[in-house]
Amino acid sequence: MALKLLDGGVEVLTATRGRSERTRRLAHDLGVTECDDIVDVSRRSDMVISAVTPGVAVKVAREVGDHVRGVYVDVNNIAPSTVKKALSYIMNGKVVDAAIMGRISRDLGVKILASGDYAHEFARLNDYGFNIEVRGVEVGDASALKMLRSSYTKGVSALLWETLLAAYRMGLDGDLLEILEETEGAGFRERAISRVISSAYHSQRRYEEMKDVESFLSENITPIMLKCTSKTFKRIIRGLDDIGMVFEDYGRIFDHVKGL
Ligand SMILES: NC(=O)c1ccc[n+]([C@@H]2O[C@H](COP(=O)([O-])OP(=O)(O)OC[C@H]3O[C@@H](n4cnc5c(N)ncnc54)[C@H](OP(=O)(O)O)[C@@H]3O)[C@@H](O)[C@H]2O)c1
Repeated sequence: MALKLLDGGVEVLTATRGRSERTRRLAHDLGVTECDDIVDVSRRSDMVISAVTPGVAVKVAREVGDHVRGVYVDVNNIAPSTVKKALSYIMNGKVVDAAIMGRISRDLGVKILASGDYAHEFARLNDYGFNIEVRGVEVGDASALKMLRSSYTKGVSALLWETLLAAYRMGLDGDLLEILEETEGAGFRERAISRVISSAYHSQRRYEEMKDVESFLSENITPIMLKCTSKTFKRIIRGLDDIGMVFEDYGRIFDHVKGL
């Protein structure tokens, strides 16, 4: 993000005193302007972007809350209730809940959802190559949409995993993928296989994410499907305890899983 802004001629401020060697090196190599501390950054900036370790998002907001002059944007991967708590500390009330819908890459093509009264202010960064979309109405909506999307996409991945594993053991996986492609559309086979392989690699991260999504959904409904999604990822973790090797096809992964 800083790189894009610097390329566009924007001054980017940060504070790295007390931070790790890695963070200080990254800031130095980018050429961002150093401030005394995050309070100083907040006082001097038109827009403050909080992109920190998720566990400290609330603490950081509380620390700078009285000093933020411009718009404060929280892009951290945290639950809607946590983002609301963090943003409640920003005394000028100019706050934005932002949810990054994937991995940040150098071209910054990843979509960022934004909600809250000041979301349109944040979306002005689209002039610098960001891909921000204002969605929902209030603070918490962007983070909620990200979690709801995860509930759906990871649920589909878990269902695919289980169904394809059963088909593989029956020797019917090739036929099943062909039949499903007829209803699910061209490219389904590749997408399905990619989902199964990435579910194997990222099972631990997905399991942890599903636990967070589960507690979020529980504020509104009693989730059943999501519990099964979590359980499926837990089973994949147990079944693939030494996933260090490179798996390129789902058959090798399925040959490797035990006890499922
Ligand atoms: N990168 C992505 O693609 C992506 C995608 C979606 C969401 N996000 C969210 O964006 C946030 C940042 O992600 P990231 O990948 O940049 O994480 P990261 O590489 O782990 O960086 C986190 C930064 O926060 C700093 N930090 C930790 N505690 C702090 C504190 N108390 N005050 C000030 N700074 C502090 C860390 O400094 P130290 O090095 O000293 O610990 C580090 O520089 C996370 O909340 C993440 O969930 C990132």
